[in-house]
Amino acid sequence: MLKKLAISAIAALTLSTGASMAAGAGGHIEDVDFSFEGPFGTFDQNQLQRGLKVYTQVCAACHGMKYVPLRTLGDDGGPHLPMDQVRAYSEQFEVFDEELDDFRPAKPTDHFPESMMETAPDLSLMAKARAGFHGPQGTGLAQLFKGMGGPEYIYSLLTGYTGEEKFEAGTAFYENTAFPGGWIAMAPPLYGEDVEFDDGHANTVESQSEDVAAFLMWAAEPKMMARQQAGLTGVIFLTVLTVLLYLTNKRIWAPIKGKKNV
Ligand code: HEC
Repeated sequence: MLKKLAISAIAALTLSTGASMAAGAGGHIEDVDFSFEGPFGTFDQNQLQRGLKVYTQVCAACHGMKYVPLRTLGDDGGPHLPMDQVRAYSEQFEVFDEELDDFRPAKPTDHFPESMMETAPDLSLMAKARAGFHGPQGTGLAQLFKGMGGPEYIYSLLTGYTGEEKFEAGTAFYENTAFPGGWIAMAPPLYGEDVEFDDGHANTVESQSEDVAAFLMWAAEPKMMARQQAGLTGVIFLTVLTVLLYLTNKRIWAPIKGKKNV
């Protein structure tokens, strides 16, 4: 019996290391200490506003975010823009109104536009879609302990260009250390100083990448904070309940257990 158990344990171990080696074939991912990591993490409102600016001025030239309603830019816990700014921001986009049978400026109740470029994927859920990154050893532990996931992947992708370029079948590919396979069809979008921040915040490739990665995490998971808080409340509630049940149990059995000892 024991022997059988040992054999299956060894088999499972070899299988899982084999799988992790396959997963390791992906790119190199840098760890970033985002404000929203850990059970008490929250989105940094200023960072989300900077990320929105990078997204709007750089990424939106090709990418869209069609699942994200513009009004959520005003949400507490998100970029938290005042409503008049949300309205002004929305109006820069044109949407097709079926009732009017014509184009009109977008309203906060509309969504972000779709991708402008057919080959550029929609970024609404990208930070979650790429959250499957399980760290260099493929064990999932890096994700659990360091919070390495989708936003880290996006940061590493934007900062991972080597400067090498090649043409294949008429398409340009750029070498990137984070992209699985090593060559991506997206030209390096950031060069540093791509956007100016009102408060003079750093606008290097790294800091802009971090800001836009945080913004895309919020876009994909705007209710992350509420979810974490609900989880924490649940854990506290269950702890208190466990203590109470333990004490009740002791009390109920006290007369019977007590006799035995006498
Ligand atoms: C000039 C157009 C263009 C701009 C500007 C651009 N992208 Fe892209 N992006 C693309 C294309 C095209 C792809 C698909 C590349 C591929 O699959 O090889 C892509 C793919 C991606 C991916 C998906 C990579 C994957 O794992 O499949 C992410 C994430 C991304 N872009 C983020 C951004 C961010 C963030 C910005 C702004 C800082 C940005 N992009 C700016 C064209 C662009």
